[in-house]
Amino acid sequence: MDKVGELKKLYQEMMQNSQLPLRTNLVFGEGNPNCQVLFIGEAPGALEDELVRPFVGRSGQLLRKNIRQIGWKEEDVYITNIVKRRPPENRDPLPEEIQAYKPYLSRQIEIIRPKVIVPLGRFSMNYFLPEAKITRDQGRLFEANKLFIIPMFHPAAALRATNVMAQFEENFKRLPLALKKIEEIKKTN
Ligand code: URA
Repeated sequence: MDKVGELKKLYQEMMQNSQLPLRTNLVFGEGNPNCQVLFIGEAPGALEDELVRPFVGRSGQLLRKNIRQIGWKEEDVYITNIVKRRPPENRDPLPEEIQAYKPYLSRQIEIIRPKVIVPLGRFSMNYFLPEAKITRDQGRLFEANKLFIIPMFHPAAALRATNVMAQFEENFKRLPLALKKIEEIKKTN
């Protein structure tokens, strides 16, 4: 089965699992399954739930603008979240919600096999790098469980503070070079 087929199967399995927490729409993720870069946020918000698409609200517009500004197309990357249904009142995802969705995110990553994962914000970052601190570690390249990871600030945090915005945009500009660096590391391994 190709990646599209495998992702479809995974989506259907999720839809059939009535044990998964939260009752809002399942926002599975979108983009190119053959992407090099996989962006992973926290959980869908109100507009994401309504449109059943990840990162389509204000944060999403900022994310998507930055993707385009470095010369990439939104359709070339893949965008999803660690928790795939909207928590009530946009509260932080609970540890048990993150755990419940974990097997599905793991399989989604295995199917896509991106060159690099960009977790957006501390919840997503700590999913991959439990010891990392967002202010200290955003923009750094990590290798964990055979995955290359570059955590970044959540775009919502960038919208709240100009210094965070500057860092967020700077990290984006560095992404193409980071991809080249990953290629080099892979060659020497
Ligand atoms: N914030 C997230 O973390 N994910 C979305 O899809 C939208 C906003």
